[in-house]
Amino acid sequence: MVSINRRAFLATSATIAAEIVLRLSGGGSQINDQLYAATPLPVRNSLPTDEMTLAARAARKGLQYGAATNHRFLRTDPAFAHAFARECSILVPEFEFKWSRIRPSAETFDFSASDWLFEFAEQHGLQVRGHPLVWHQALPRWFDSTVTPQNAERILVHHITTIVRRYAGRVHSWDVVNEAILPSRRSPDGLINSAWLKFLGPDYIDLAFRVAAEADPNAVLVLNDYGLDYETRHGKSKRRLVLSLLERLVAAGTPVHALGIQAHLRAWEDRFKPAEMQKFLQSVADLGLDVFVTELDVSDQKLPGQIEYRDEKVARVYRDYLDTVLSVPAVKLVITWGLSDRYTWLQYHRPRSDGLDVRPLPLDSDLQRKPAWTAIASAFDRASHRESR
Ligand code: G3I
Repeated sequence: MVSINRRAFLATSATIAAEIVLRLSGGGSQINDQLYAATPLPVRNSLPTDEMTLAARAARKGLQYGAATNHRFLRTDPAFAHAFARECSILVPEFEFKWSRIRPSAETFDFSASDWLFEFAEQHGLQVRGHPLVWHQALPRWFDSTVTPQNAERILVHHITTIVRRYAGRVHSWDVVNEAILPSRRSPDGLINSAWLKFLGPDYIDLAFRVAAEADPNAVLVLNDYGLDYETRHGKSKRRLVLSLLERLVAAGTPVHALGIQAHLRAWEDRFKPAEMQKFLQSVADLGLDVFVTELDVSDQKLPGQIEYRDEKVARVYRDYLDTVLSVPAVKLVITWGLSDRYTWLQYHRPRSDGLDVRPLPLDSDLQRKPAWTAIASAFDRASHRESR
């Protein structure tokens, strides 16, 4: 039984119970809205200016900072919603756009959660990043028994068109294709053997980007992937394969505008080579693309338990990584995959063997700023000013 962050577990269970009560009572989201409205969020500039916020420190350099979160956390935890609207300028739905959540059936969509997140974001002056349109994970139960070589293109086009059109003009950017590359001896181009590849061939990627561009010509369209950060055999081949995929897409005139590097880092990993990372990112920039850091967090799973030591080590990883990637002017955006240790996927995906709560994010479980917060803020301060394209 993996240890789940107690507070998150209680919050989620309480939410699920509340949602059941709401549905039974037909109360809709009124109770959530009352709960949420009961705590008006601070005006953005109400904080002491010396500290400012991560979003403000980023904006001073033409950068943007935001975080991923789940609508349940924002609806049931006003203090967290406060902190989120204060620190971020971009919101990324951690789950609400995934097929398993937004597609109850091959014919229907459930936009209730994604619409709520857009309302929250727009009420508080946040932009939204869409994530992801196409991924081989988080697929609904009906998917494998429904999608065939004959209907795959129609289903993919319908999915992307319906979602992108619905939010056209309201989205900062879309992760159009997520995690397309998995280095293996069996595939020279490294494309992961997903249903889309099986049924549509490598051109499913071009198709996804073209359909998204047609549905919202102003959307910034991103190829998003992980495992690009370290000087390991996997990292080196992943960077090579992602770069050659981008070269192919750009040469074909496919409307890709940025590479998303997820940046799920490990505080105990010592094979980070700044020069290699800078070289890779500059090669991407030389294709005319921007780079977004899209899912940054620093796992402390294998560090000793002492909190001060862990916090300092995690902060140093944030500092060294961001100083490296922000030295490349094409890097325009930094998203952490979560804002507070109160809600992080790492608590149940990479739990600590000693049962202590993990501490990967800028705010702790009490929403207090940690050394990681300071490391990110000061990396923004040291970054050169970005010119928008
Ligand atoms: O919403 C259901 C809830 O109704 C149910 O009671 C509960 C227990 O089964 O599950 C809830 O759904 C979970 C969802 O997160 C929302 O909390 C899914 O089971 C769970 O699989 C899902 O995990 C997400 C995972 O992607 C898979 O979609 C993580 O939160 C999210 O952090 C993770 O994010 C991915 C990025 O999208 C891509 N890059 C890697 C990253 C980390 O894996």
